[in-house]
Amino acid sequence: MPVIRFVREGLDVECFPGENLREVALREGVELYGLKGKLGNCGGCGQCITCFVAVVPGDSAALSSRTAVEDRKLQNRPLDWRLACQALVEHSVVVLTRPQLGLADGQAQLEAALAAPLPAGPTAWPEQPETPEQQSATTDEDSPDGPMAGDTVR
Ligand code: FES
Repeated sequence: MPVIRFVREGLDVECFPGENLREVALREGVELYGLKGKLGNCGGCGQCITCFVAVVPGDSAALSSRTAVEDRKLQNRPLDWRLACQALVEHSVVVLTRPQLGLADGQAQLEAALAAPLPAGPTAWPEQPETPEQQSATTDEDSPDGPMAGDTVR
């Protein structure tokens, strides 16, 4: 499972590959928003530009590619900033929430976060086992005789 390391919070959180960064942060109690975002964010639609995070350089492939919304909304922001609501986590990643605030102790906190290794995590969703209904439907469809009269095909 990929790990998201939240530098400001000093927190490592596991998630499934492909999970939305904003949803994981909110689920884990990470404060993504400054005052403006707390008072009124768009709920993850990519419209309010209040959920940005900085991705630590070198981890750009850890998240899904920038969306067209991000390209438009973040055109005057640093290239390593992302909208958390638009980013899907592919691999373990180090992020700084509310990067516009900087860090109280400057680079030291960031360097400490980078010093500890992150697990890479899988690149795809784990395969789900078939349910008994799926197995029986597959068996009937795959048999040379096809489903028998009176069989229930789901
Ligand atoms: S929550 Fe509004 S842009 Fe991400």
